[in-house]
Amino acid sequence: MYPDLQKELATFERRTPKSAEAHKKNLKRIPLGVASNYRAYDPYPIFVKEGRGSKFRDLDGNEYIDHNLCFGALMAGHCHPAVMKAVEKRLSTGTMFGMPHDLEWELAEEVCNRFPVEMVRFGNSGTEATMHAVRLARAATGRDKVLKFEGAYHGLHDTALVSVKPHAPEFGDVNAPTSVPAGLGVPKATIANVPVATFNDLRSVELRFKQNQGEIAAIILEPILMNVGLCMPQPGFLEGLRDIATKNGALLIFDEVKTGAKLGWGGASEYFGVKPDMICLAKSIGGGLPLAAFGTHKSVMDLISQHKVFHGGTYNTNPVSMAAGLATFREVLTRENYAHVDKLSKKLTEGYRKIVAKSGLQAYVASAGANGALMFYPQEIRNYRDWTTIDVDLWRHYWFAMVNRGVMAQPYWWDEQWTISVQHTEADIDKHLAAFSDIASSLTKAQQERMAVAVH
Ligand SMILES: Cc1ncc(COP(=O)(O)O)c(C=O)c1O
Repeated sequence: MYPDLQKELATFERRTPKSAEAHKKNLKRIPLGVASNYRAYDPYPIFVKEGRGSKFRDLDGNEYIDHNLCFGALMAGHCHPAVMKAVEKRLSTGTMFGMPHDLEWELAEEVCNRFPVEMVRFGNSGTEATMHAVRLARAATGRDKVLKFEGAYHGLHDTALVSVKPHAPEFGDVNAPTSVPAGLGVPKATIANVPVATFNDLRSVELRFKQNQGEIAAIILEPILMNVGLCMPQPGFLEGLRDIATKNGALLIFDEVKTGAKLGWGGASEYFGVKPDMICLAKSIGGGLPLAAFGTHKSVMDLISQHKVFHGGTYNTNPVSMAAGLATFREVLTRENYAHVDKLSKKLTEGYRKIVAKSGLQAYVASAGANGALMFYPQEIRNYRDWTTIDVDLWRHYWFAMVNRGVMAQPYWWDEQWTISVQHTEADIDKHLAAFSDIASSLTKAQQERMAVAVH
């Protein structure tokens, strides 16, 4: 570990002793000391005390401008007043019934008016949304295989846990990536049913369809690959997938768990002008409460209506989450608020670019809608394998140095990206840029020294 990173880590530990202590306690009873593996990192994760608007405070009282926002699930920001009002009102009239109620119709209308789907079912997490979408696609086509892209994350069910972060040499040839389980416990039979292709490479997709003729039920993808920082689809890629899916009688599933709310008013299909057959939504549509949805054509949903495909869930459409979702669609994810976020995103992106250019740092800034990331690469990445070449220590230097200056620039992990909420302000962006400006030259120095060592 090089000295500037060491210095930032020492500062981090000096500022956050209560988090260290809380983590130690958690470790006794909770694996990794966290409730989701993504929350664990060295030396220990920051423990939160409270959040409001665009900021949160840790157990030691340090305040941060929050661009983590629960891994992008809080485009609303913390405690958005409209969401809080709707939730508080609903809390006193019963939180769960397991019976239908009047908010279901209203939120279903909101989803179907905004996204190109005719019918929708609700759930609680992105994992549920993609799991049910995939099952429906299998049922609709009578086929078992689902094509996914290497490096893509779609949640925690078996089909999704294939080639999420595979390593060399198991991941094989980039033109025909090997399907690799993302951990133990994923059945071999599942792996065999998940052919993998390379993002931004239509030939690798065509090859898979050729090798599995009449067997692939669906292509599932994030329209922007956001499990590798931020990797844009190259022009023609989404259109090409649309054609390949149609030609082969497979369904095209857009996993819009992240992009659905954060790219713009109508999500990725509006942003890119490509219509999928199915859409999966979660994260930011709940405004801070657990809420998910999957939607598709009526003809596909008829499989549920006819009791041919099973879908259920005790917590589905609990009135508190539904009230939050309704307030989010109507009062948070408005065209006006998207314009505000776009303005802030432009300011942040351009600000970063200027600082990068001035400092000589070898990096670029990718951004789309409310999302963006500082990408430590000499040129734009196009797929998962490009992403793996990152200098992890340099990225850690960036993240901890920003945190030490009161800015959580994005969730921890170099496969994530920042989110700008509707409650962020110009002053937040100014502070974010000031922090980055403060550390840029030390990042550049470290990078140049490390590159010089690598050459020799
Ligand atoms: C694109 C995408 N799909 C699905 C999921 C899974 O969502 P959840 O964590 O709510 O199960 C995530 C979570 O990060 C995601 O980013």
